[in-house]
Amino acid sequence: MSRRISEVRMESTVGQTVVLRGWIHRLRKQKEKAFIILRDDRGDIIQAVSPSNLTENLTIESSVEITGRLERDDRAIEGGYEVKVNKIVVFNIAASDYPIGEYQSDEILLDYRHLALRTRKLINVGKIRGSLLKYSRGWFDRKDWIEVTPPLLVKGAVEGGATLFEVKYFDNRAYLSQSSQLYLESMIYSLGPVWTISPSFRAERSRTVRHLAEFSHLEAEIPWIGLSELMSIQEDLINHIITMIKTFNKKELNFLSTDALSKLEEISTPFQKISYEEAIDTLRSMECKIKDQNGSERIIEWGDDLNTESERELTKDKTSPIFVTGYPMKIKPFYVKQDPSNESIGLAVDLLAPYGFGEISGGGIREDDWSKLRARIEQSNLKIDDYLWYLDLRKYGSVPHGGFGLGIERFLRWILNFDDIKDVTLFPRTMSRILP
Ligand code: 4AD
Ligand code: MG
Repeated sequence: MSRRISEVRMESTVGQTVVLRGWIHRLRKQKEKAFIILRDDRGDIIQAVSPSNLTENLTIESSVEITGRLERDDRAIEGGYEVKVNKIVVFNIAASDYPIGEYQSDEILLDYRHLALRTRKLINVGKIRGSLLKYSRGWFDRKDWIEVTPPLLVKGAVEGGATLFEVKYFDNRAYLSQSSQLYLESMIYSLGPVWTISPSFRAERSRTVRHLAEFSHLEAEIPWIGLSELMSIQEDLINHIITMIKTFNKKELNFLSTDALSKLEEISTPFQKISYEEAIDTLRSMECKIKDQNGSERIIEWGDDLNTESERELTKDKTSPIFVTGYPMKIKPFYVKQDPSNESIGLAVDLLAPYGFGEISGGGIREDDWSKLRARIEQSNLKIDDYLWYLDLRKYGSVPHGGFGLGIERFLRWILNFDDIKDVTLFPRTMSRILP
C-alpha cells in the first residue's frame, strides 16, 4: 500500500520496502542511474535513485508510483533518507514543455497559477491558509457560535456603490455581495452570535498590494455588545489563531519567511487602542500627506479617511496590532451607530496590523434606531426599497448589536510578512486577472 513521504521518512522504516505515489519534482539522468526528487500530494519531497532503464520516458511532473527500499543517506535532501527504487508504475507521462522551472517571473507564476500551486512556496502558503481557516473555526466552535452561509447574490450595497460588481439576475440586476454583514445582522435575533467565512467581492479599480476583487471574509455579528467587548473578541480570536500557527505551522512559516516567526513571537496583548483623533494628530505631527479629490497634495486633517500610506505611518514602528476607534460619521457607511456623546463620531473600529501592514479588520456598533437608520440610508443615495427588509430589523425587536469583518488574505499577508496580497491567494482576482 502506498504511503505519504512523511509516514516513511524515519529511522524505523530504514531497510523496509516503501511504496510512494507522487510527481517527478526534479530529475537528473546519468548513464547507469537516475536521481529523482519525488513530491507527494502533501508537497513533501524525498530523494530516490533508480536504475536508468526504469526512468527512460520520465519527464518533470510525470505522475508515478515508486517502490523501493528506504535507506539512510546523509547527502540526501530533506532529512537524509533515500529510496533505492526497483519498480516504477507510471500514471501519466507529463508533456515535456512544463512551463514552470526553478526560477520564474511573478507574471508566469500567475499565468500558470493552476500549475504554480505545485511550487514549494504555494504549497506552504496553501497549508498555512488551511490552518488559519481551521483555527478560526476552532475558536468559534469553542464559543459555540453558530456558523452561517449568507447569500452572495444581493440587491444592496454595504460598502459603497463604487466597488459593486453587477450581475444579470434573470431579467433583473443584482450584485455580488461586498460583505455578509446585513444578513448576519438579521440572524442574531434567532441564532445569537453568528459567524461566516464567505467570499466578498469588490470591484476595486486600483492596483495595489492589498486589494483583491474577491477575498475570503471572516465576519461575525453579536447581539447586546459594546465597542470594547467587540475589540476583546477580535483580540482573542486573532491571538488564538496566531498562537496556533506559531505552534503547529513552524515549518511552513520558516520556509516562507526568515523573520515571520520571530515577528509573531513579539506580539503582545492587550492590543493598543487609539482614537481616530489621536491617529490624525500623530499623522499631522509627521506631516503625513494625502491627495484630495482634485489630485493636489495636502497634509492630512480631521475628516480624512486613513489611506494605505497613513496606516503605514501609524503602524510601521509597532510590533502588535492596534485598534483605531471613533471615525467621523461622514467617512463611514450608513449602518454605523453615532457615538451618543459626540454626534460627529461613529462607533466604528478598525484593526491595523503592525510593521506598516495596516487595516486587516473593520467593524463596529450598528445603528439600531429605525428612523435614524432610514435617514442615513436616504442620505447615502441608496434605493430605500432594497433596504426595507434591513430596516424591519429595527422595527421588530431591535437590540444593540455589533460585529466585524476580517480579511483573511490581509491577515495572512501580515502573518507571512509578504508584500503582495496576491502571494497569499491561490487564485487571485484583480482588475487585470480572472484567469486561470
Ligand atoms: O472594512 P470593510 O469594507 O468592512 C466591511 O465590509 C464590514 N461590513 C465588515 C463587518 O463589519 N462585518 O472590509 C472588512 C475587511 C477589511 O478590513 C479588509 O481586511 C478586508 O475586509 N477587505 C479586503 N481584502 C482584500 N481585498 C479587498 N478589496 C478588501 N476590501 C476589504
Ligand atoms: Mg474598512
